[in-house]
Order: sequence, then C-alpha cells, then structure tokens
Amino acid sequence: SAPVLVLGIETSCDETAASIVARDADGRGTILSNVVLSQIADHAAYGGVVPEIAARAHVEALDRVIAAAMDEAGVRFADLDGVAATAGPGLIGGVIVGLTTAKAIAFAAGKPLLAVNHLEGHALTARLTDGLDFPYLLLLVSGGHTQILLVRGVGQYERWGTTIDDALGEAFDKTAKLLGLPYPGGPAVERTAAFGRADRLALPRPMLGRAGSDFSFSGLKTALRIEAEAIAPLSDVDVADLCAAFQQTATAVVRDRIGHALDRFRAAFPDIALPALVVAGGVAANKALRAGLEAELGARGFRLVAPPLELCTDNGAMIAWAGAERLALGLVDDLDAPARPRWPL
Ligand code: KG4
Ligand code: ZN
Repeated sequence: SAPVLVLGIETSCDETAASIVARDADGRGTILSNVVLSQIADHAAYGGVVPEIAARAHVEALDRVIAAAMDEAGVRFADLDGVAATAGPGLIGGVIVGLTTAKAIAFAAGKPLLAVNHLEGHALTARLTDGLDFPYLLLLVSGGHTQILLVRGVGQYERWGTTIDDALGEAFDKTAKLLGLPYPGGPAVERTAAFGRADRLALPRPMLGRAGSDFSFSGLKTALRIEAEAIAPLSDVDVADLCAAFQQTATAVVRDRIGHALDRFRAAFPDIALPALVVAGGVAANKALRAGLEAELGARGFRLVAPPLELCTDNGAMIAWAGAERLALGLVDDLDAPARPRWPL
C-alpha cells in the first residue's frame, strides 16, 4: 500500500515549523520537507523567549511556513492522510495558533487530526531517523525540558527522571546572561568554555550520588553567581574559566543521573544486547556533554543514538512523524482536542 502522508505543525516555543513526512507500511519514514523559521532574532534583545511576541510571530508566519512545506514536498491538502500539530506542552499562545490551524485544515480537507504531545515528538524521532525498535531510553535536554524517559511503544512512556527546578538549557542560558554572553546562551557558553580552565573553581554537583534520575540545576546556577560576584570585575579569562567549570559540572551531573537510568534499563531488559540511549533537545548539540555521555554509555554497554541536530531541536518533522505513528494505530483526535500548556507524557 502507498505510504501515508502527514503534515506536522510545531509552534510550542520559538520555532514556527511545518513538515511533510511519509510513513510506509513497514513503518519506515521519509521526510519530504521540513521548514523551520526561528524567532531567535525577535527575542534576542530580551535575553529569552517572550511568550506574547512568540504567539504573534507564529500567527504572522505559520501560513507561509505551511505553504512552503507543502510546495517543497509537492503535496496538496487533498493528498494528506492526516494533519498533526503540537497540542502541548508549551507556551499556550503559540500552541493555540498551531493547533487551531491544524484543525481548520483537517476540517476543510476532511482529514483526521492528530493532537501530538511535543515530548512524544522528541521521543519518537529516532524511529524516523534511525529506524530504532522499542524499547529505548531518551534523554531530552532543551531550554524547556530535562527528562529521562523509557520509551516502550507509541503512547507508552515512563518518566524516570526530570528536573526539580531549571531545565539544563535554561541553566546554560542563565549562566550566559550572568556572564554577559549573548542569547541563546548554550552555544556561547560552549564556545567560551573552550578557552577556560574547568578546574579553577569547584562548583557543587547537585543530586550527584542521589538515588534515581532526577536533576537539579538551580543550586549550580546560584553557586556560579556567588563565584562570579567574588571574582568581579570579570576578565575574559575569568568568564572562560567560569563557563568551563559550569559545563564540566553540568556534564558530570548528567552522567551520574543517566548512569542510574542505564542500570535500571539493564535490569528491566537484560536480554537486549546493545540498548540505545537517544538524545534530543538543543543542549544535545553540546560536544562536551556528548563526549561525557558517550564515555558513560560505552562503559555500561549502551550505544548513543543522536539524530541530526536539526531534528534534535524543535521542528515539524518530529510532530508529523509522531502523528503518522499514532495514525497507524488509529489514535486520532476529535476537533475539540484541547491545547494544553502542561501535559506530562
Ligand atoms: O530544543 P531547543 O532548540 O528549544 C527548546 O528549548 O525547546 O533548545 C534550546 C536550548 C537553549 O537553552 C540553548 O541555550 C541550548 O538549547 N543549547 C545549548 C547548545 N546549543 C543550544 N546548550 C549547550 N550547548 C550548546 N552547544
Ligand atoms: Zn522541544
């Protein structure tokens, strides 16, 4: 039978994104188009995403972005088998823009609606890019989320760890702001850390050695601020050393927390020879973090699956794909599906 075509719309944060994905009868996916319009420039002056600005920018851009994705794929609404959009969690103004647009297209074209959980989009991306089989572990580290999930199947997720305060990307962004580096902070901290000495300062390593896989980053951020205030005025060398210390400490914390989850996975699924840990989210771009993860995984007999960066950060293909996976199981939604600011998987 012909592959199923799904339009995916993502508007839950500061990317306006749309994509067409095909899923064949064997469950293999192909990305026909993937258009992402970043709003970084709109928010840079404020040092972070401003929800009202984001919602208005989605309204202005979404029609064009969808049209571009349809054109690039050579697909008309009538050709679609489903229309998927992020229904949460996220900034609610943006979510409403994307979900309402998806409902209008689904209604007008007479196609099923798929109201996708954004986190499910991240969780299933590795099946699109790497054809991964269930079960596997997911480490999601973005500006809004820091979670370790067991992915058992479509719609079957267990949250094994989460942050009790700041997300990891948020901690990078706040560190950058504190040290006078530009937004978004993660890439700036990574670039600057390359010139610094990580061992000049000993920062606390929150949760290290604690049972389970939860994270905490606000204490680290506070400790960094106290160190910075003690040294101030900061030279370029000081800033580089602080960035290096922060990045090394954050990596150590992630290694420790993920180590617990790997042990737990091994105990739950002793028959899987080389289990996979998938990374997603913008912080997955960080090379020091990746190297630390790879060392931890190698030592415990796991492999790292890292989808290409443009599919690790927010995009429409992950929503289209999650929609296609749900559609294949008949998990479609009614047109009154709500937009949900909070929606744990
Ligand atoms: O997944 P993403 O693009 O958007 C969401 O938050 O949903 O992630 C953005 C986050 C920001 O906090 C950014 O500072 C961080 O990912 N980030 C990085 C790096 N590149 C992006 N953090 C550390 N190192 C990087 N190279
Ligand atoms: Zn995301």
